[in-house]
Amino acid sequence: MAKDWWKESAKDIPIVKTDIPGPESKRMHASTTRYFHGLSSQVKLFPVCFSEGHGIMLKDVDGNKFLDFSSGIYVTSLGHCHPKISEAVAHWAKRLMNAHDFTTPVKEKLCEKLAEVLPGKLNAMQFYSDGTSAVEAAIRAARAITGKHEFISCFRDFHGKSQAAVSCAQMLRGDVFSYGPTRAPGFYMVPRPNPYHPHFKKPDGSIDTDGYISFFKEFITESTVGNVAAFVLEPIQGWGGSIVPPDDFFPKLRKLCDDMGILLYADEILTGMGRTGEWMAMNHWDVVPDIVTFGKSFGNGFPVTAMVVSEENAEALDKISASSSYGGNPMACAAALASIEVIEEEDILENVRTVGAFIKKRMEEIKENHPIVGDIKAKGFLLGMELVKDKQSKEPFAEAGKLVYQKAFRKGLAWIPAGHILRMSPPLIMD
Ligand SMILES: Cc1ncc(COP(=O)(O)O)c(C=O)c1O
Repeated sequence: MAKDWWKESAKDIPIVKTDIPGPESKRMHASTTRYFHGLSSQVKLFPVCFSEGHGIMLKDVDGNKFLDFSSGIYVTSLGHCHPKISEAVAHWAKRLMNAHDFTTPVKEKLCEKLAEVLPGKLNAMQFYSDGTSAVEAAIRAARAITGKHEFISCFRDFHGKSQAAVSCAQMLRGDVFSYGPTRAPGFYMVPRPNPYHPHFKKPDGSIDTDGYISFFKEFITESTVGNVAAFVLEPIQGWGGSIVPPDDFFPKLRKLCDDMGILLYADEILTGMGRTGEWMAMNHWDVVPDIVTFGKSFGNGFPVTAMVVSEENAEALDKISASSSYGGNPMACAAALASIEVIEEEDILENVRTVGAFIKKRMEEIKENHPIVGDIKAKGFLLGMELVKDKQSKEPFAEAGKLVYQKAFRKGLAWIPAGHILRMSPPLIMD
């Protein structure tokens, strides 16, 4: 149910008073972009200036109130300015903002709490201040654990924009090399199972996960120099379109990794901390990875991320220093600890499961009744709707995606820009 601190409940918003963007947003944006460059397509399309956020509501400088359907960018998952989290940060902002990587009382509590909620023996950790740094640490950890240097990642996954992270992804965006013209040596990519567009099919046309697994085995044997440290992937592909793999995929991938002596690294930066109705998306398939990273929702907006490996590999973390200027500072630890406690105290995982099932059912109905809705993707509050020109050819309908995105934004729905897959990640507190 709506809480007092939300200030607005879902039924009272959006409230749109001006054109979007309004006059004050336009003025501020124009003077800011005289100096500030490199904006995302989201901001370019809707240069709105936000001034406040409470719960599921975002307010702009023209007084318009938006329904937040993206949680910032999969970040403020427990709502904007959750009082418990804001107060926890403020507490340490007034006492001790930074103590390098020395132990602090709040770091002690966060380590214990995170180890408690994670499955298996995932309990050896380091803290960073952005997702990309946690991914870089995971790559270093995989090399330190195995003494090997190669990596396999998946088509259209995203892991960040620094050298190793970007080498696990595609570097060409549109017709420009966004992140540099070459992938670092030793990084390879393979297709990941997408049930709506399978590369490998059974005779009845449905996806064949065994086909993927045997291709991975052959590819690793033939293409690499036999020094693969880890298989890196998003459990559910976030940016690429909320693509949920078939249920039998991860148990089979776990076995392949074990058979080939390769670590399984699940990048849960987008999927972790309740987004799918579990602490980790991998929990849906009872598969425990060897390495996992958390970010985005981990501090509900405060920059704090984590890289965790299983206990038997803890010693390798001493070979890769955890020391950084901001990683694990007291405010960051307080934000992450309070966020985990909110998930427990407010029964957020159950809310995501119940409301998520309701949303999925409504999306199925929309799919049945609309010729351009080809597929829906849903795991908890990680949602997507794929628009196609016709259901037979499954040809992407990007123009429709853009139109729906823009029309809804003008009506007060703050969400993530779409190609032909409409992506939604509402706050997990949404009732
Ligand atoms: C799966 C995944 N990994 C890593 C990152 C990079 O995180 P950050 O933007 O905090 O550096 C992202 C960001 O979108 C992500 O979705």
